[in-house]
Amino acid sequence: MRAGELRRAFSSFWAERGHEVRASASLIPHEPSLLFTVAGMVPFMPYFLGEEVPPSRRMTTIQKCVRAGGKHNDLDDIGRTNRHFTFFEMMGNFSFGDYFKAEAVPWAWEFVTEVLGLEPEKLWITVHVSDDEAAEIWRDSVGIPAERIQRLDKDNWWAAGDIGPCGPCSEIFYDLGPEHGGDGGPALGGEDRFIEVWNLVFMQFANDGTGELTPLDAPGIDTGAGLERILAVLQGVPSAWDIDLFAPLLAEAERICGKSYGADSETDVSMRIFADHARATAMLISDGVFPSNEDRGYVLRRIIRRAVRHAWVLGVEEVVMPRLTDIVVDVMGDHYTDLRTNREFISDVVGREEERFRTTLAAGQRILDEAIAKLEGGADGPVLDGSVAFLLHDTHGFPVEVTEEILAERGISLDGAGFAAEMEAQRQRARAGRAGGPTFADERYREILAQFGPTEFIRDASAVSEARVLAAFEIDSAAIEPALLADADEAHGYAYVEVYLDRTPFYAESGGQIGDVGTINGSAGSVEVLDCTYALADLHRHIGRVRGGGVEVGSLVEAQIDDVRRAAIRRNHTGTHILHWALREVLGQHVKQAGSLVAPDRLRFDFSHYDAVTPEQLREIERLANAEIIANGRCRHYETSMDDAQSIGAIAFFGDKYGDVVRVLEAGEHSVELCGGTHVAALGDIGHLRIVSESSIGSNMRRIEAMSGLATVERLADVEDLLGGLAELVNAPADELAGAVRRRLDETKELRRQVRDLQRALASGRATELAEAATDGVVIADLGDLERDALRDLAVSVRDHDGIRAVVLASAPSGGGVALVAAVDPAGTLSAADLLRDAARTVGGGFGAKGDPPLVMAGGRDPEGIGAALDQVRAAALGA
Ligand code: SER
Repeated sequence: MRAGELRRAFSSFWAERGHEVRASASLIPHEPSLLFTVAGMVPFMPYFLGEEVPPSRRMTTIQKCVRAGGKHNDLDDIGRTNRHFTFFEMMGNFSFGDYFKAEAVPWAWEFVTEVLGLEPEKLWITVHVSDDEAAEIWRDSVGIPAERIQRLDKDNWWAAGDIGPCGPCSEIFYDLGPEHGGDGGPALGGEDRFIEVWNLVFMQFANDGTGELTPLDAPGIDTGAGLERILAVLQGVPSAWDIDLFAPLLAEAERICGKSYGADSETDVSMRIFADHARATAMLISDGVFPSNEDRGYVLRRIIRRAVRHAWVLGVEEVVMPRLTDIVVDVMGDHYTDLRTNREFISDVVGREEERFRTTLAAGQRILDEAIAKLEGGADGPVLDGSVAFLLHDTHGFPVEVTEEILAERGISLDGAGFAAEMEAQRQRARAGRAGGPTFADERYREILAQFGPTEFIRDASAVSEARVLAAFEIDSAAIEPALLADADEAHGYAYVEVYLDRTPFYAESGGQIGDVGTINGSAGSVEVLDCTYALADLHRHIGRVRGGGVEVGSLVEAQIDDVRRAAIRRNHTGTHILHWALREVLGQHVKQAGSLVAPDRLRFDFSHYDAVTPEQLREIERLANAEIIANGRCRHYETSMDDAQSIGAIAFFGDKYGDVVRVLEAGEHSVELCGGTHVAALGDIGHLRIVSESSIGSNMRRIEAMSGLATVERLADVEDLLGGLAELVNAPADELAGAVRRRLDETKELRRQVRDLQRALASGRATELAEAATDGVVIADLGDLERDALRDLAVSVRDHDGIRAVVLASAPSGGGVALVAAVDPAGTLSAADLLRDAARTVGGGFGAKGDPPLVMAGGRDPEGIGAALDQVRAAALGA
């Protein structure tokens, strides 16, 4: 019986017994807790749980299944056993609260023995340890000898996932004969001898995910019969790989490997992997799964990559997966017709994924070769550091199995514990950083890196370079730092993009040095680059504004940085190193850099120090730095190993990432630091370094801001302009400015004193005048712009005149606002506070006097209110 015949026989057997025949559901399940459809029952989970009403209580399917990743994961066994596949077809009959064990068991037996014609004496039965009922049915209704019914525990319990319907099961095994393994039935005998052909699950419980089991209202039947395994038994072959469905695939695998199947056991494993993984790949892509770095896409990617890796290890250089998936379409397309519709799409997707991965493999191989070349033999032979394997795996997508295979060939072992520790640390980081998985953006960046590898940074070449556009995404202006956008941008409605190039002269912001700006020019238009940052380590993201038609992905462009700006950045960056050295010389070697900013117009340097830096120290630091700069020592910027860098005493620079290979800057005679930034060729290029501020930024943390190059020249010119302007104002030569200003300050002081005396003399004359003009012993007057203190003094001297009961004066002092004062004869009947209360409110103010003092002052905001306020006082004092 061939595959097609078996499918037809199965479906009609169950149709005759009242089952609705359904086509296979997708490999992508609706059930969110599952990655793939792992069994025939998956699409029916809601029916078993009673959450939905089934259209029919008896159904039958031949369901596409994938078991790779998650609870049901056979990926690592593929090729090494006779019965595991990532993709397989599961035939099933289902009862949703309809028939149960008493019907399902005899029907299964009937199909297996009568329709398929399997010899009853070669069949064994297993039931769950708890399931007496099933055991009795097999023995009494079907007539199986008791010694061929075995009881198992975990092996006879079935669940799709950690949540959902589950129950005890009963399985039928076929005995291939003693030449395939030991006696003892499925419970005790050989795995390759007793082949499971049928699994009857008695769905009885719902698992809520914690292990708590609730009995189902309507228990049902879920049967799973693996099509490939049954075919193997029917076709009389010892291994399911030998059935008709695999033959054309293995034949193609033989052509790919240039060897016959069966000639060499390791190559056979690879050939089976080609056959199996091609089936899973074609089926998954046809159902809409794409290779990616997330959940099911990631599993698909692993499946494809595993197959490609086998081809690569076998030395097969051409792309093989599309050839294989094409055969899957030929073999399976009659039953799964979508495959035919999607034929080209499938080979396109898998072909591109394979090409991409082959580039990764080639790049990884190079990195590994370099690392191997540096290895030295230990006591047990050379050992490769786990961090190298991790870097290959993590950054370059180079599988650790491949690393191990290559190492094994050369008699090198891998520090597996080191690798595992890095992986664990990575998992921790991912867990800490994850809120709903990697973001879409991360995903795209990883894709670019996986596909094209790291961006090549053109460090020393001229500022222009030819590059290819690898990718470009339009982005929202909201994603761009506002400071980068000109005011005009909003009105113009520019489009903004991120551009990825294979090589670039643009420095991506790191180690304190800000990103370059410039242009990317293509034939269609250009991108004005506003900033360059790392999207991922080693992936330069050019952020810019689209001009004209922008740039086209795949096209060649000219990438050009603003080199005047870059030169200024270089001066400030090397200047930062010299400043750091001078700080340590003057303040002590405890000084450590805690952060920095290197921009074209300035540099900022944060460092640890327990005290304020005195002006003398600052001056000394600046003098030392400039002496070093003027000495014009050479700057050497080179790559070396971390060990070498440490041995020459290089200081690690804050905020940079370091691998095994590091970049060292030796600037002049004294400064040696690790640094990935860009630097001048000789210290004299820095020009003059000028500290412009020093301040505290927290406990034991200081910040220095400085500038160099033309910026200091401009600053000096500005300062001179300022001094010249001031000298002109005080009408003195610039070098006598200080004396001239001091003289003027003394003069001002003297003038102030004279004014005060004059005011007092004036006031006492005024007091007599006011007292003489009193009405019924009360003086009320507006004193114009008299100052507050003078107003108070005046009020007191008026009151001290004979016969004065109360004085209320107001003024609008030149500094703004209103001053009010009331002074009364303490022996009299009038209250100063009462006199002012309403008046103060009228000028928009109030006063805070407590009790009833004879002198009260009040303030206000509103000079226009003075007249009305004094009227109120008059009414209160004189009743007029
Ligand atoms: N769900 C069970 C299995 O997958 C029976 O269909 O084996």
